[in-house]
Parts: sequence; structure tokens; C-alpha cells
Amino acid sequence: MFTYEESAKLLERAKKSLAGGVSSEFRKYNHPHAIFYSHAEGSRIYDVDGNEYLDFTLSQGPMIVGHNHPHVVKMVEEYARNGQLYAGQHILEIELAEKLQQLIPSAELMRFCLDGSEAVQTAFRIARAKTGKQKFLHFEGHYHGWLDNVAWGLSTPSVEALGSRVDPNVFPWTAGLPEHVEDNFIILPWNDLALLGKTIKEKHGEIAAIITEPIMGNNGCIMPKDGYLQGMRNLCNEFNIALIFDEVITGFRTSLGGAQSYFNIIPDLAIFAKAIASGYPISAIVGKREWMNLVAEGKVIHAGTMNSSNSTVAAAIGTIEVLESGNVYERIFKLGLQLMEGLRAIGKKYNSNLLVQGLGPMLHTGFTDLKEVNDFRDVLLYDKVKLNKFIAGMHDNGIRIIGRGLWYISAAHTEEDIHTALETASKVFKQL
Ligand SMILES: Cc1ncc(COP(=O)(O)O)c(C=O)c1O
Repeated sequence: MFTYEESAKLLERAKKSLAGGVSSEFRKYNHPHAIFYSHAEGSRIYDVDGNEYLDFTLSQGPMIVGHNHPHVVKMVEEYARNGQLYAGQHILEIELAEKLQQLIPSAELMRFCLDGSEAVQTAFRIARAKTGKQKFLHFEGHYHGWLDNVAWGLSTPSVEALGSRVDPNVFPWTAGLPEHVEDNFIILPWNDLALLGKTIKEKHGEIAAIITEPIMGNNGCIMPKDGYLQGMRNLCNEFNIALIFDEVITGFRTSLGGAQSYFNIIPDLAIFAKAIASGYPISAIVGKREWMNLVAEGKVIHAGTMNSSNSTVAAAIGTIEVLESGNVYERIFKLGLQLMEGLRAIGKKYNSNLLVQGLGPMLHTGFTDLKEVNDFRDVLLYDKVKLNKFIAGMHDNGIRIIGRGLWYISAAHTEEDIHTALETASKVFKQL
């Protein structure tokens, strides 16, 4: 049985200098509390108590080639020797942009930023400037970063409190938001094309953009219904609205060209972060030339002292080189699907209401009597107490999964890792 005494001690010490003992709110909610790690390698991560975990958290997504990948580390070491940051351009930056142009269908022009949250805001600014309209439409339960105008629709006192699907009640996720920020957006339940079409037809005169995660990965792991993304694309074309795909999770995870390649639906603007650079702080706002030209011409300002530093660009090139070599996607899909099937079989064996959803490289486990989970309102019906027990049981036996039930597969995972995870899941199910 794992114990966490050293982490507990460090957490008490950390709380005296770091607010809440952590540097990101989500890190508080590990099992049984925030954990301190000592090192990570491949598919494994180790904590200060000497516990070894088979890691399906992958640092919330970025470590798609596994922890500490030697090629990425070598690229960073080599390129950082030239210096760190120039307040000017460097050649590798063009190489990365050219590579993304080849890989991502909508990436005709791009800018690099530090993280997903700020790239999302850049996309909104471009959309407002080009369409001359103010609002963006987003969806219940979709996470687009932690900044003011997107810190809504992520929490609710209850599913009933969300009210009608046509005109949902929206709740702030945090204190300290500016007044009237909710005038900037419209929120709807996801995966409902009729509802989206009706709303757009009524309100298109004020809507500059629709932003969506192409696969809903922040609450459950929910695939878009057939025709939903295409329908969204058509509505945006018809009503002069920017279609923004937030590919912070799906980028480099569903395919080298992101979910837009996987589904063959091309947005006007898209955001890539997380898996682009194995844990180095770089993101990209990419888009079609007609939208990104506003940035090129300096009409829409985008800036940042730390953007495209040498090591972050080198890490992105290194990561993409690993992803392009061998048969990474074939492998992570195969392993993910094996894991999904194995988990479903265990759920059946133990007569559990386990529901496994996803597409392989990302998948979700939850407990519900629903046969299918299609939006945030369904997600709210998951049995959280049971999920927490499952996550805790897995963690205490060396399997680390994201607390909301999400699993990520990396190029470093092996069939043996999947078997280990399934054996552990069997053991945990016996005690649930
Ligand atoms: C879909 C999505 N968009 C945006 C963000 C924000 O990205 P970052 O944490 O890099 O600011 C996240 C982070 O988890 C995300 O999952």
C-alpha cells in the first residue's frame, strides 16, 4: 500500500510560501492531496515517498512521447547552448512554423504564445476584429483556460440549476471576475445541432466566434455526434462567424494534424498547446490567412516577451520529430482501444455501471446508468463518489489517472503497461 508522508510534510511546508501549496489550482486535487514528485521517465513517474506510478495523467496531456524523452532533451540541450531568448527571430522558429503548416490543415499563418489560455484570447481578438461583432459562443463544460471571459459554464450547484437548454443559467467559476463580463458570450449545451442552429439564426448579428473543443475532453471524453462539427462549420460560413477549434487537448493527440485532420473539418482559427512540446511552455494560434492577416498587418496586436524562446521551439521540433517517426499513432490508438475494451470487460465482470468513452489515445472512465454521455449535463450525473474511490484505489496501487476520470496514452506506454493497468483495475473493482 502506498503512503504519502513525505508529500504531506512538503505540502505543509509549501503552504507557508505557495498559496494553497501549489502553482496551479488543479494540482491541489490529487489523491490523497497534492503530491510532490522527484522524477519521471517514459511511462513512469515517481514521488518523494518512493512510490512509482504508471502514468496515464501525462502531466495533463503534454507528455505524449513519454517523460524525459532523450530526443527532446537532446534538442533542448543543444539549442539552448546558443542562448535562451533574443527578443528577435531565430531560424528554428520558421522551421517549426513551416512544419505546422504542412501538418495542420488550417495553419496557413500562425503566431507562437506560451500557453493555451492566452492563445484562446488571441483567437477571440482576431474574430472580433474581422467580423466587427462582439460575442463568442461557447459550450457548457468546455474549458478554454482560466481567464475572465471563459471562467463560466464550468460549475453549477446542480444539474437542475443550469435551467433550460435554450437559455441556460451560467455560473462563474471563480470570485474576482469583472462586472458585465458575461455580456461577452453566449453559452449552450454541446452536441445539439438543432439548438445551435436555432440560436445562431436568432443571434448571429452579435456573434463573432464559436469556440469548441472538437472532442469534449475536459468533462468526460465525448465525441461529437455525426454531422455536428460539419453543421457548426456550415453555420459559421453562412453567418460570418469564426469557427475556433480549441485543440489544446486534441492537438497532436488525435493525429499530427489535430482533430481537424481526424474529422476533416477545417476551422478558421485553432489553438495548439499541451502535446506540442513535451512540457515546454509554447502554444500556437494558427489560422487561415484571411483571419491571421489581421495579426500580420498589426491591426490585431499579439505580443509576449517570452514567446518562442529557443528551448521551447527546440522541444516542439523534437516532439514532432518523435511523433513523425515510427508508428506512434497506430500504437497509441491500439493501446488505448485495448485499454478501453479491457476496462469495459472488467466493468461487466463486476456488474458495475462503469461507462468507458473516448477514441483511444484519450479515454474516460465514469460510473453512470446512462448508456451514453453526450454533454456536460450528462457528465454531471456521473457518480463522483464512486469515481473518487476508483481513482484513489488505482493510485494507491501505482496507476495514476486524471482525477476527473480521464486517461491519456503516450508513445512510451507498452502492451505490458496496459495489462498492468487492467490487472490493477480488476483488483480495485473487487474492493469498490
Ligand atoms: C481545451 C483546453 N483549452 C485551453 C486550455 C488552457 O491551456 P493552458 O493551461 O495551457 O493555459 C486547456 C487546459 O487544460 C484545455 O484543456
